Amino acid sequence: MEGASTNLCYNLLDRNVRNGLGDQIAYYWEGNHPDDYSRGLTYRKLLEEVCRFANVLKDHGIRKGDRVSIYMPMILELPIAMLACARIGAVHSIVFAGFSPDSLAERMFDCKAKLLITADGAWRGEKALYLKALCDTALEKVEEMGHSVEKCIVVSHLKRVTPCQPDHVEEEIPWTDDRDYWWHEEMEDKEPACYPEWMDAEDPLFMLYTSGSTGKPKGVLHTTAGYLLYAATTFKIVFDYKPGDIYWCTADVGWITGHTYVVYGPLANGATSVIFEGTPFFPGNDRYWSVIDKYKVTQFYTAPTAIRALMKFGEGPVLKHNLSGLKVLGSVGEPINPEAWLWYYKHIGKEQCSIVDTFWQTETGGHVITPLPGATPMKPGSASFPFFGVKPTLLDECGIEIKGEGEGYLVFSQPWPGMMRTLYNNHERFEDTYFSKFPGFYCTGDGARRDADGYLWITGRVDDMLNVSGHLMSTAEVESVLTEHPRVAESAVVSRPHPVKGECLYCFITPNENEVFDQKLISDLKKMVRERIGPFAMPDVIQNAPGLPKTRSGKIMRRVLRKIAVNDRNVGDTSTLADEQIVEQLFANRPVEA
Ligand code: WTA
Repeated sequence: MEGASTNLCYNLLDRNVRNGLGDQIAYYWEGNHPDDYSRGLTYRKLLEEVCRFANVLKDHGIRKGDRVSIYMPMILELPIAMLACARIGAVHSIVFAGFSPDSLAERMFDCKAKLLITADGAWRGEKALYLKALCDTALEKVEEMGHSVEKCIVVSHLKRVTPCQPDHVEEEIPWTDDRDYWWHEEMEDKEPACYPEWMDAEDPLFMLYTSGSTGKPKGVLHTTAGYLLYAATTFKIVFDYKPGDIYWCTADVGWITGHTYVVYGPLANGATSVIFEGTPFFPGNDRYWSVIDKYKVTQFYTAPTAIRALMKFGEGPVLKHNLSGLKVLGSVGEPINPEAWLWYYKHIGKEQCSIVDTFWQTETGGHVITPLPGATPMKPGSASFPFFGVKPTLLDECGIEIKGEGEGYLVFSQPWPGMMRTLYNNHERFEDTYFSKFPGFYCTGDGARRDADGYLWITGRVDDMLNVSGHLMSTAEVESVLTEHPRVAESAVVSRPHPVKGECLYCFITPNENEVFDQKLISDLKKMVRERIGPFAMPDVIQNAPGLPKTRSGKIMRRVLRKIAVNDRNVGDTSTLADEQIVEQLFANRPVEA
C-alpha cells in the first residue's frame, strides 16, 4: 500500500465515532483492588482525551517521526498516550514497566527518545511500585550515556484509586522542575480536538524491543497500513468478535500482545474491552474469574503460565463465579501443554468454548498460526494452521523442506501485511537475524512438528532464547549480567522446564581463582539480574561450576548443561569435550534445592 496515506488513530476513533459508536464503551478499567473505583471510557471520550494529549505532545515539541518512550502501568492513560503518538505521527516505544531502570535507559538511548511518559506508580497486589523513581534513575543513566531525554510527563495514579495500603503513597515522588510535568496539569487547558497527521502506509507506527540472542535488545519496527489491516483482521476473525461482545486480554500493553490485542486490533473493530491493572492472585486466587463475571466477558485471552498457576488452586475459585458468557478462550506466549489446555477447556470454557492457541511473535505483528473458532477442529496443544496469507514451511538443518509429517525449523516463505519492516536503525541486523540462516525465508527461531493431519505443533525456541512465563529472553543477556560480578569468571545459563513458568533459568557459575562460591554470591547475583533486567528474569537455580563442559574449540556444550539442570544422566556423546571429568563433577555439585 506504499504511496497511500492514512492515520491509525483516525481509523480507530474518529471513524468509529462517526459510525455511531460514540457512546459505546471502548475500555472498562478494573483496578488492582476490587474497591478501586472502576472507570469506563466511551469512544467519544477516548477520542477527546487522545486529542488533548496529542496537543500536549505538540506543545512539548513532539513532531512526526520523533520517538516517545512510555513506561506505564495498565491504566487508561496508556492507550491514550499511544494513540496520541499515532495521531501526530510520533513513534511510540513502550518499555514494559517490569523492566529495570537499566533496561529502560538502554532502550531510550537506542531510540534517542525525546520524551518519556510514565506514572508516579502502579499497584500490584499488596505492593505499590514507584515507577517515577525508577524513571529518574533511568533518565540519569541515559544522560551519562550521552543522550538527553528532554521531558517527562507523569500520570498521578497512586492517589486516585482506593488504595489497599494508604500509607504506601505517602512516599515522596521525586521531581525535577523544567523536565517533569504532571499529566493532569498539562491536559487542563488543551483543546479536545486535534487534526490527524496523514501518514504514508509505510511510515513507522511504533517500535518495540524484544530480546536478541546476542543479548542486545532489538528494536522491532512496525509501520502503519499493513499493521492496522493485520491487527484488525486477526482480531475480528480469530476471536470471532461480534458487536455487543466484551473482550478481555490480560497481557500487559508493554508486550506486543498488548499492543495488537489490547489496543490496535480491538479499537479498529469498535470493540469493548477490559483493561486490568492487577494480578490473578489479588485479593484472592479467583480474581480473573471474578472480573470475567463482573463484566460478562465473552472472549478471554491469556497466557499458559497464568492458566498453570491458577490450575493449582483447583476448581473451587472458578465455581464461585458465573463464566457462562464466555465463547472464545485464547492462549498466547508459549506452547500450551495439553494438561493446561484441557483444564482451560473444561473448567473455564465448560466444554462450550473454542480455544485459540495463537502462535505469533513481536516480529509478526499479529497471529500467524492459529485455529479459527468454530471452524478448526481443535487438538489440545496444537496451534494448528496458518492465518490467511501466511505460508509456513518446515526446514531441516540443511534448509531442505520437510513435506508431510516431520519436525524442523519453522519459517515463512512469503511476507504478510503485519510483518515487521526492519530493526530500528539496524537493517543489517534485521537481514542477518531473520533471513540469513535460510535465504528466501523468514526464520522464526522456533521449531515445529507437522502431524499426519497437517496440524502444526510449536516445539519451542531453537536458538539460545528461553521463555519464562511468556517473557522471551536470551541466555546471553543473563550471562552478561552474571559475569559482570567481580567474583565471577564465567557463567553459562540454560533453560529448565518449570511446572508453572514453562521454563526457568538455571545458571552455572565459575568463580574467579581463589574465590569461594557462597550464599552471599548467590544472593548478589540474583539481585544483579533483578536490577539489571527485571524481576521476571530472576534465576531459579545458581550452581557452582568449577569448570564448564567445553569442546576443544572452546564452545560450551549447552546440551550437556541442560541435562545436568534436570538431573538426567543420559547426556549423550561427550567425547568431543576437552575435559570429560567435568560432567561428573557438575552432577555432584547440583544444589540440594535443585
Ligand atoms: C513463543 C509473543 C508456542 C514462541 C506474542 C515465539 C508461542 C515467542 C506461542 C514470541 C504459542 C508465542 N505456542 N509458542 N501459541 N506464542 N510463542 O515476541 O517461542 O514476546 O517465538 O511474542 O513466544 O514471543 P514474543
